[in-house]
Amino acid sequence: MKKRLLVATGGGDCPGLNAVIRAVVKRASHEHNWEVLGSVDAFNGILQDPMHIIELTPERVAGIHVQGGTIIGTTNKGGPFTWPVKNQDGTWSTVDRSQDFMDRLRYQNIEALINIGGDGSQRISHKLFEIGCPIIGVPKTIDNDLSSTDFTFGFQTAVDVATDAVDKLVTTAASHHRILILEVMGRYAGWIALHSAIAGGAEVCLIPEIPYSIDKVMDAINQRIDKGHDFANIVIAEGARPIDGEMTYIESEEPGAMKMKLGGAGLRLSQELKDAGCTIDIRETILGHLQRGGTPNAFDRILASQFGVKAFELVLEQKWGSMVAYHHPNIVAVPLAEAIRKYNYIDVSSDLVATARGLGISLGD
Ligand code: F6P
Repeated sequence: MKKRLLVATGGGDCPGLNAVIRAVVKRASHEHNWEVLGSVDAFNGILQDPMHIIELTPERVAGIHVQGGTIIGTTNKGGPFTWPVKNQDGTWSTVDRSQDFMDRLRYQNIEALINIGGDGSQRISHKLFEIGCPIIGVPKTIDNDLSSTDFTFGFQTAVDVATDAVDKLVTTAASHHRILILEVMGRYAGWIALHSAIAGGAEVCLIPEIPYSIDKVMDAINQRIDKGHDFANIVIAEGARPIDGEMTYIESEEPGAMKMKLGGAGLRLSQELKDAGCTIDIRETILGHLQRGGTPNAFDRILASQFGVKAFELVLEQKWGSMVAYHHPNIVAVPLAEAIRKYNYIDVSSDLVATARGLGISLGD
C-alpha cells in the first residue's frame, strides 16, 4: 500500500500556495510513490462529516504553480483546537477536537501532514505536534510576519502589487495636486508598507513599529510644499497607529474567526491631517485583497517550490515539528517552537529603515 501524506493550506490565502502543493506532489510521487491528499479548507476537511479530502495527483497539480489562491481552499475559521459549535440559545462557542482529529488521521492511514500557513496556522501545527502529530510546517503569508525565515512566499508578489499602486497614485496625485493615501495590508508589521514606499518613492510611510505623530507628518508635507511641490504620496500599513492611539479594527463576530479585523488606518489618517490644518485635497485608497490574489511573481514561485520540495524531504527524514525556512541562500528546517516564538516586526534600527530615512521618507517620528 502506498504511504499517505496530507496537505492543508490554512489562514488567508497568498500567491504561491499552489506552487508549494505542486512541488510536494511532484517530489512525493516521482521517486517515492507516496499518495498525496488535500484537506479542503485547512484542517476543516478532516473534521467535517463527511470528510472533505481530495486526491492530489501529478495530473491534478500540473501547471498550477502559476495560479493564485489554493486549489484545496483555505479558511481562518475553525480548526482542531477551536471548532465552532452553536449553542441552544443561538450563540457560538468553540470546542477542542484535536483528539478526534488525530483519530480521523489514523482512520485514513495518514502518516504525515504538511501544513502550509502563516503565524496562526503554524501555532496550530505546533500544538498538533505536541500531541504526537507527524507534522511539518511551511510558512506562507503576504505579511512576512513569521520570524525564523528571511522571507515568506507571497510577500514579494504583494509588494509588487502595492508598488504598482503607488506608481499609479503618484501620477494622479501630481496631476490633481493632492495628497494620496494608500492603505496596505500587513497586520502588526509594516513590511509591505515600507518595501512599497521605498520601491514606489512615497514621501511618507507609516508602520506599526513606529507610532506616528501627526505633527511630524504635517511637517514632512509642509517641507515638501516649501520646496515647491504641490502633491504627496503616503503609504500607511493597516496596523499603523498614532502615538496616542490604538490600531483601527473591528471585532469579528464570526464563530471561531480571528478576533481583530484590521482596517481604517488610511481614513483615520486623512481625518487627522484635515484636523491638523492640511488644506491640500486628500484621497484615500484601500488596496485590500488585491494584494493576496492572482499569479505569484517568479521569486515567490521559486521560493514556494523550494519550500515544497524541502517539506517532503523533511517528511522522509521524519523531522516532525519542523518548519521549512529560507536562510539565504539555503532552505533549512527550524523547530516550529522557535518559528512561532516571536513575531517578525521590522527592526527600527535596521538598514531597511535607515534606507527609507536616507531617501527622505518621513516615518512620522
Ligand atoms: O494575514 C494576511 C492578511 O491579508 C492580513 O494582511 C490582513 O489583515 C488579513 O489577512 C485579512 O484577513 P481577511 O481576509 O480575513 O479579511
